[in-house]
Amino acid sequence: MSAGISITSLINDSKEILPLSDIYCLLTNVLGKKKEFLYSHPEYALSPDETKRWQEYKSRRLEGEPCAYIIGYQEFFSLLFKVNKYTMIPRPETELLVEEVMRLKPASLLDVGTGCGNIAVTLKYHNKQCAVIAVDISEDALLVARENAGSLLGENNITFIESDYFTNVPAQAFDVIVSNPPYVISEEISTLQKEIREYEPLIALDGGGDGLDAYRLIIGKGRQFLKEGGRLVLEIDKRLIDGISSLALKNSYIIKKTVCDLSGRERMMVLETKS
Ligand SMILES: C[S@@+](CC[C@H](N)C(=O)[O-])C[C@H]1O[C@@H](n2cnc3c(N)ncnc32)[C@H](O)[C@@H]1O
Repeated sequence: MSAGISITSLINDSKEILPLSDIYCLLTNVLGKKKEFLYSHPEYALSPDETKRWQEYKSRRLEGEPCAYIIGYQEFFSLLFKVNKYTMIPRPETELLVEEVMRLKPASLLDVGTGCGNIAVTLKYHNKQCAVIAVDISEDALLVARENAGSLLGENNITFIESDYFTNVPAQAFDVIVSNPPYVISEEISTLQKEIREYEPLIALDGGGDGLDAYRLIIGKGRQFLKEGGRLVLEIDKRLIDGISSLALKNSYIIKKTVCDLSGRERMMVLETKS
């Protein structure tokens, strides 16, 4: 492709090999413009620098790298989160957890496995009174989460702690614990699409032999970090419901509800502590 190609020709050249949504995502980033610009200026000719960046982005995408890692950002709950190879890319279905916790209006919240901080930061953004602690085992993910909290909330808003689940969480009882833990069955990781398998951090995916390793810990240990009547809000895979339910009952929780995502698959479970 020579320098100076128009937006229209570029889209026509690429739409057979890339989804339009990916083209728009990458191209708006290259141009530093909103999507509307692509519609309103179809004749705009890319500069040599823009052309070079577009070509680089396009070949990275064709190799399998997700758009979010290429441009370095992902939108979640209408907020823009920095992401990199150390953080999982926030998914739309995880917004279900945020909506649920927002309805609960907790005064204190613990986010376990915060990644880029999307859940914790969004909740704090919409409920400034809530005291939020967010933990992750990955120091590199926490660097990104702190940066997102800084840019979206200002300084000193969330306490981020490097922790293997609850190991370094100060002893206290929270109103709500929320978690989107790793839940892919280990031997199924090799069957995931390349975008996920080769680019997203393994530690964010691997749920162990039966997919339940993280739930065992969070449901088991989480009990002592929740108030009486406190809620544990978990992202789940539909196939793990039986296993998670039996862990919940074994650890004296009430299963309050199971909620489906937009595709109709069970995606969230809400547990409540009982004495
Ligand atoms: C599925 S990702 C979720 C990230 C983010 N909360 C989201 O919803 O997009 C799971 C996260 O759990 C973290 N994690 C994995 N094992 C952990 C452990 N033992 N203790 C704490 N966090 C852990 C990973 O680093 C990763 O950031």
